[in-house]
Parts: sequence; structure tokens; C-alpha cells
Amino acid sequence: MKKVLVVGAGFLQRFVIKKAKELGYYTLAVDGNPNAEGFADADEYGVVNIVNQEAVCAFAKKHNVDGVLTAATDYGVLAASYTARELGLPGIRYESAQRIKNKYEVRKRLYEAGADDTGLAHEVSQNTDLTVLAEQVQYPVMVKPCDGSGSRGAAKVESAADFAVACKEAMDCSLTRKATVEPFINGREYGVESYVCHGEIHVLAVMQKWMTQPPYYAELGHAIPSGLSAAMEEKVIGCVTKALQALEVNHGSVNMDLLITEEGGVHIIDVGARMGGNLIGSHIIPLGKGVDYMGNMIRGAVGDPVDFTPKTQPVAVATRLLALTPGVIREVPDMAQFEAEDAIVQHHLAVGDTINEYHTNLDGCGYVVCAGKTVDKAAEKAEMLKNKIDGAIVRA
Ligand SMILES: Nc1ncnc2c1ncn2[C@@H]1O[C@H](COP(=O)(O)OP(=O)(O)O)[C@@H](O)[C@H]1O
Ligand SMILES: [Mg+2]
Repeated sequence: MKKVLVVGAGFLQRFVIKKAKELGYYTLAVDGNPNAEGFADADEYGVVNIVNQEAVCAFAKKHNVDGVLTAATDYGVLAASYTARELGLPGIRYESAQRIKNKYEVRKRLYEAGADDTGLAHEVSQNTDLTVLAEQVQYPVMVKPCDGSGSRGAAKVESAADFAVACKEAMDCSLTRKATVEPFINGREYGVESYVCHGEIHVLAVMQKWMTQPPYYAELGHAIPSGLSAAMEEKVIGCVTKALQALEVNHGSVNMDLLITEEGGVHIIDVGARMGGNLIGSHIIPLGKGVDYMGNMIRGAVGDPVDFTPKTQPVAVATRLLALTPGVIREVPDMAQFEAEDAIVQHHLAVGDTINEYHTNLDGCGYVVCAGKTVDKAAEKAEMLKNKIDGAIVRA
């Protein structure tokens, strides 16, 4: 029986852990949180800080694992890559994983490769003369921490007057104290999920995304089909393929955020060397594309053969994050009543927990997944059920 190590064991990684066990692999999991819910489904687990690559690698070595992967979080990406390298297992090359952790480096590579339609970006560190740069850039610009996630520290800047403050805030949100400044793109947001198996690129899905209103940039839901024309999807797949080559991704999952303008400009704005979060791997792709994504990702991690041909009939699918009215939860409704309407509810609502105002993905309390005759119908239903759930929660 092959052994697979899942780096991270939170709510979203739990789906991967469960899947690995279902496939018959001996499943190990590590997470820094001793109460990580994914531990319940693992054959064995370790309380290990997943940012600590040496510690994760030592755990993997001790247990003699045959494969290692992370999913739905940026925190475990380097540890998984490092461990794969040290143990000679399938994984993304460490240098590529490192580069992908830096938004400026990614942008620079994509620009040089002509992978998409985005202009040049600038890197900002403590040594940058912000007064000079503020006069050089063309507004509006987007300022983001180089190594950010969950949209923390990201801001649109309209004029030179606000430039320095935004850069400092972004640097403050960065572990490496670096920010990236890039052209602000006025477009609709999409997600693209890919899996690279020993150099062979599979672009698995183009998804439409719903986002909050600025100044917050948090996801509200996803759907397949994307609603883009076939020609536009072709262009997107071409850009993503070029980007994966430019970033030298040799193996593993890659999740990207893209903006597409009305004129058809394609702009890759965020790349993660891991499976996407928000039920993309566990629900959206299997339903929307008929492909067993997580199963293949796990098989690929231990060196077993993968097969990305659809196994079930694809359906139109849409999700909504449980972005809910703030308050302290006094009663959680029975979700069976909502699931009876042919939906899937995955949540982590618990009595006594506080629901925060929805500013980042981390403020979400779970998801509703709906299928429909059309993607619009599925999205409408998911939105309606999300509102019903919100209304049924009793708050203190
Ligand atoms: N260049 C840009 N132009 C317009 N909006 C952007 C740009 N870059 C990022 N955004 C918005 O900010 C959000 C967060 O940025 P992103 O790079 O994805 O960071 P994170 O790693 O925090 O997810 C994106 O999902 C998008 O909505
Ligand atoms: Mg993002």
C-alpha cells in the first residue's frame, strides 16, 4: 500500500485526505493546528508547522512516504516541493515553487514570455524611492504584497498622492517586505485550474468567478461553464499554457486568477502551485467537467498513472461562499432542508462562533453547490440557498 502525505489538514484539505483514503492509499497528514479537522480522516498525522519545510520533510522521511502534496493553501507549497525533492518523489521543482511564491517574479516572467496581455510590473522594497516611482507609473495601478494571499494588503491606487501609503501597507502585509505594482485591469474575473504531470500540461477548467466589491477582493462563488465564447476559452488556455511553460512548472496542480477585459485582453493576476480552494477540486471540476481531479492529483503525487478523460457527464455547476451576516451563532440550522433542494452544503458553522463581515475568503463559513440546466440557473439557485441559510441562522 503506497503512502501519501497531505500537507495541511484544514477544512479544504480534508477533502483530499478523505479521497486519498478512499483510493486505498495509506494517508498521512500534517498541520500546525493540533485540532485540524482533517486529522480525523488520516491514517496517521503529525502536528507540524507546514511553513517549516525541514520539519515537514523530516516527518515524510520518518514515515517513508511515496508521495507528498498540498492543496488549497499557499502555506504548504514550499514544504511539499522541498520534501518531494529531498525524497526523490514527484513534485514541482523547488526553484519554480519559490518563483511562484513571488507575484512580482511571476509577472516579470509572464511579461517576458508574452504569456498574456498585461504590461510591466514594478517591484517595491524598503529601498525603493516611492516618490520617484509614484511619478513613473500609469494610474490606476494595483499594489499587492509580493507573497500575499487572501487579498490581504491589496489595493487599487488612483493617483500619486495615495501611492506611497498603499505600497507601505502592502509591504507590511508581506513576509519578505516586498510589494508589486502592476497595471489595474478593469475586467471580469475567472479562475483556471491546471494539472501538470511530468511536463504534460492539462488545463482542466476555466471557471467564472463572483467577487466582492472593492476595496475588498474576496471570492463569492465559482461556476462552470465559464460563459466565455469558445474562441475566448481557447485564448485563455493558450495564455495559461504559455504561463506554465514560462514558470517552468514540471509537475503538480496550478490554480490561477485571471481578469478578462471587454476587448478580450487576458491578464493572469495570481498563480498558486497547488490545487485551488473553494471546493474547486472536490466539487466544481468533478461536476462541471466530469473529471476525477483529486484522484488524479493524488495518483500523480505517488507516481501512479493519471487519466483526465471525463468519467461522468458534465453538468452546469455554481457555488456560493457562505458570506453571511455578521454575528455570534446561537443556532445552526439543519442543512438537510437546503440539501433537499438538490444542493450540497459544506460548512463549518458552530454554535458560539463569530461570523465576521465578509472581507476575505477566510471570513467565509462554507459553501453551497448547485447544479442546473444552465449555469445562470445554477448560480441563481446557489445564491437563493445561501440567503436562505443566512436567514435561518439564529444569532445571539
Ligand atoms: N492588476 C489587477 N487589476 C485589478 N484587480 C486586481 C489586480 N490584481 C489583483 N486584483 C484583484 O485583487 C484580488 C487579489 O489579488 P491576488 O493577486 O489574487 O492576491 P491573493 O494572493 O491575495 O489572492 C484578485 O482576485 C483581483 O480581484
Ligand atoms: Mg488570488
